[in-house]
Amino acid sequence: MKVFLECLVVFLFLSCNSSEKVENKVTITDGTKTYDVYQASEMSTLMKGMYAYNMQLKTDIEAGNELSGEFPEEFLKIHSAELSETKLRNETFQYFSVKFIDVQRQVFKQDSMLSVKERYNSSINMCLSCHKTECTGPIPKIKKLLIK
Ligand code: HEC
Repeated sequence: MKVFLECLVVFLFLSCNSSEKVENKVTITDGTKTYDVYQASEMSTLMKGMYAYNMQLKTDIEAGNELSGEFPEEFLKIHSAELSETKLRNETFQYFSVKFIDVQRQVFKQDSMLSVKERYNSSINMCLSCHKTECTGPIPKIKKLLIK
């Protein structure tokens, strides 16, 4: 139980804000007890995938490995994935999503003048730029992706 609660606290901390999770709450009842289940939006699932993917890129770049993959086309879902009810696909979001896709693609460019580390950090800085506008909760976590 204690472990479960700790996980929940971490989860709430990492999301944009806790009120949004309340709106995504689904209550399951088994007759005697009720359980509140928090449903992640499509965007939130995509974001977690992007986080995990970039963590792997960081590991590879730091180890000096050649990047074997290509830009994950899956990331283009940022333009269409459903957001949590409290979040809007406004002009700012659209502006930063186009910019982000552009810089994340650059990471995989073979013929760039910039080092892979510089290109990678630019893409993470673009995650941060968008998050500063409306979703500040995950910022400390995203900063851990930066290569020093
Ligand atoms: C164009 C704006 C934008 C960009 C770029 C962006 N994010 Fe997000 N991110 C959001 C929004 C909005 C949410 C909230 C989604 C929701 O609740 O539906 C979010 C949610 C998240 C979450 C919380 C997921 C959860 O529910 O626990 C993480 C972690 C995250 N983003 C990491 C990243 C990382 C890593 C990158 C870059 C690789 C990135 N984001 C790029 C806007 C952005």
